[in-house]
Amino acid sequence: MGVEGLLEGFYEQIVYEDIGKDLSGYKGIVFCGMGGSGIAGTFASKWLNHRGVKIPSFVVKGYELPPFVDDSYLVVCISYSGNTEETLSNFEEALKRGIKPVCITSGGKLKELAEKNGCEVYEVPKGFQPRYAFGYLLSKALCLVGISPEEMEDAKENVRENLNKIKEEGYRIAERLYGYVPVVYSTPLTDAIAERWKGQINENAKTPLYYAVLPEMHHNEVMGWNNPSLRNKFHYIVMYDAKDHHRVKLRVDITLKLLKDMGIVPIVLKGEGNSYLSRSLYLVHLADWVSVKLAELYGYDSLKVDTIERIKEELKKYD
Ligand code: PA5
Repeated sequence: MGVEGLLEGFYEQIVYEDIGKDLSGYKGIVFCGMGGSGIAGTFASKWLNHRGVKIPSFVVKGYELPPFVDDSYLVVCISYSGNTEETLSNFEEALKRGIKPVCITSGGKLKELAEKNGCEVYEVPKGFQPRYAFGYLLSKALCLVGISPEEMEDAKENVRENLNKIKEEGYRIAERLYGYVPVVYSTPLTDAIAERWKGQINENAKTPLYYAVLPEMHHNEVMGWNNPSLRNKFHYIVMYDAKDHHRVKLRVDITLKLLKDMGIVPIVLKGEGNSYLSRSLYLVHLADWVSVKLAELYGYDSLKVDTIERIKEELKKYD
């Protein structure tokens, strides 16, 4: 299947399953994972906070679990390949602390170790690049932490209904970004989306992308704008969510005003949809189309990630 076919099938990956855990007995939830897998944990954690779930959830993207994580925490290890060393390290560390992590994977060592140690494994279909299996990984993560079938279906329908619109908008944005380093200015409700944009543009289009988050960026990033010879090397994208804090939305307006005063015309993005998840997946899917079109414009194969693979091979020499 070509990459367009893969993207057109994204909404079909969003599937509800009745695997929700009773979260009331946990002190917190930790999602572990890297890159195209870890981002599913980032979204699940954001979703939990937005839903007002009263236990903390956070993401670990590295080798070590924080020292306070013990067997009163739900640990979810997400690795599409099941062979990512940072996630395997988290898994093994959790076992040492008497935790049985719940695993989301298509196989590899993670599946093998999880089954050997009596941990729950939720499998996703094999044969994808991890970032193209995002819908599967996210669905499992959200279902585990209790999303309703209705909310999931609404998000899926929203992407399906808007697919052509998202694709066309993605192509237009790619044309605008061509030749520039994209910089995304996001908000507390869209920073996970900005992170996904970064991953997709980096990996698919072989293009650097940086992002900053409001309100923090109003305390540092904005001073970089004083340097016209550098600021004009970037193309700016401003994204926010309808439910962001009212002062954050005010800061979005001020950001747009300041950029306009400098003669900068940013791309302004706000997800469409009934729920936070629907609006988020709208913008997530937009990044899919932007990144594959940008890859095409630069003449790159959006499926290849040779530098990532080379680093993994280099590391294996020191196993
Ligand atoms: O998208 C990718 O290919 C990478 O970002 C991978 O997701 C990352 O290297 C981690 O691998 P995995 O998803 O198999 O754990």
